[in-house]
Amino acid sequence: MQTKIFQINSPNDTEKIEAAAAILRNGGLVAIPTETVYGLAANALDGEAVAKIFKAKGRPQDNPLIVHISRFEEVFPLVKAVPDMAVKLADAFWPGPLTIVLEKTTLIPHEVSAGLDTVAVRMPSHPVARALIKAAGVPLAAPSANTSGSPSPTSARHVLDDLEGRIDAVVDAGKCAVGVESTVITLAGKIPRLLRPGGITPEQLEAVLGKIEIDLAVFSAPSMGETPASPGMKYKHYSPKARLIIVKGNLPEFIDYVQKDASSNTAVLCYEGEQEMMPVKAIGFGRLENPAEQAQRLFSALRQIDALPHVQTVFARCPATRGLSLAVYNRLLRAAAFEVIEL
Ligand code: TXA
Ligand code: MG
Repeated sequence: MQTKIFQINSPNDTEKIEAAAAILRNGGLVAIPTETVYGLAANALDGEAVAKIFKAKGRPQDNPLIVHISRFEEVFPLVKAVPDMAVKLADAFWPGPLTIVLEKTTLIPHEVSAGLDTVAVRMPSHPVARALIKAAGVPLAAPSANTSGSPSPTSARHVLDDLEGRIDAVVDAGKCAVGVESTVITLAGKIPRLLRPGGITPEQLEAVLGKIEIDLAVFSAPSMGETPASPGMKYKHYSPKARLIIVKGNLPEFIDYVQKDASSNTAVLCYEGEQEMMPVKAIGFGRLENPAEQAQRLFSALRQIDALPHVQTVFARCPATRGLSLAVYNRLLRAAAFEVIEL
């Protein structure tokens, strides 16, 4: 199939928004911009359309999708109840990069929830995303618009690199502002539990909810046979083709380690401004003191690494684990398949 490209920079570009929305209404797949990453959208109420998402991405069938809405009221038919805590979270962080897991109603096809009795819901803040949901007239199920396992797409170019010819259209609205995916929190249990760190930090969540639990899968690989609360967390993810290893230590220690271990097939993923100090080819992913910039650039830096010729091993600087950096750390840890060297 030929993938159409719609350049849409404003929610008022009604003609193109309507054309993309029509594809969605008719059961097609459209990659859409959000403030976090590009999503591969389909009508969330149409199981057959949603099944196409899994096929296009090569996504494991047991990994459920996030349902995107454009107004708060749209959550009601999708879930059994909207607890007080969900209202508080929505007040504080919607529209924005927060996904809330709640008990689902039968309106949600099993393709979306992948057999779970919950559904993940989020209201994106990107004005074009919301205009598309509104025009489609249905909630949109959308995982990140990458091939399953590869780094999430933060530009329409990334989407096309992975999925051109496999999806009906992509809406190009430029680069994503946040750059890592939404925070996923579940309210389906007794105590709110963070399943995936993202654009909203644990500190921000606790300011609204009080103490929350952090799922073990945020920091570590699930042990064999264990079923994680968020199925997506069990897969190797975001990976460049080269072997990525996180090296934890200060800058001089890091440089020293790379110097000793490097071959002609080694590259480095480091903070912006450190490239010149590295003994091998280095890609920057934002300044050390600027976690928002790190988040915004991480995935495209991982894709840049793939574009370097002959690279087999990549040593990465280790992000902090607080604030927005926790999301950056979590993604890098998965890209490295949990391989960390402590100096
Ligand atoms: O920012 C984002 O969240 C982006 C944009 C497109 O909205 N979407 C995204 O979707 O990152 P995806 O499919 O790549 O990641 C969704 C995550 C997965 O880890 C999945 O397992 C989890 O959310 N998830 C979805 N539904 C769930 C549910 N009912 N219970 C627990 N986890 C769920
Ligand atoms: Mg994803």
